[in-house]
Amino acid sequence: MIKLRVNGREVSFDGDPSMPLLWYLRDELALTGTKFGCGVALCGACTVHVDGQATRACITAISDVNGRSVTTIEGLDPDGNHPVQRAWRTFNVPQCGYCQSGQIMQAAALLATNKNPSESEILNVMSGNICRCGCYQRITAAIKAAATGA
Ligand code: FES
Ligand code: FES
Repeated sequence: MIKLRVNGREVSFDGDPSMPLLWYLRDELALTGTKFGCGVALCGACTVHVDGQATRACITAISDVNGRSVTTIEGLDPDGNHPVQRAWRTFNVPQCGYCQSGQIMQAAALLATNKNPSESEILNVMSGNICRCGCYQRITAAIKAAATGA
């Protein structure tokens, strides 16, 4: 039996331990804010936090999070008012939206460890999160604003 905490709630799973965490979140817990993009750790659409670290849920087996704490976009802030989410609204970052929960989770993990990242640090950390709509300039601007509280 695999036991973990998802968005502060204790949950368990006794199926295939190799099931990707992404499948578990979306299909078992109905937390569909986390998206499937590439399935091979190349796009970042599936980014969640595992014990606070940005993690690709598509290549993380459910057994790898046994005893750990997972946060998805639904649990980042109960009211959707994490500083990154507020900045995202201010800058109207999303276009189609598909990549955005992964972008926000990656950005939130960055700011949790680096409160005032430089532009190059932002670009470096966010470089693995692909946006097919090309929202990169607004993403960078919003992260800077979230960092400074602007
Ligand atoms: S779906 Fe996980 S990185 Fe693309
Ligand atoms: S907003 Fe469309 S993929 Fe990023």
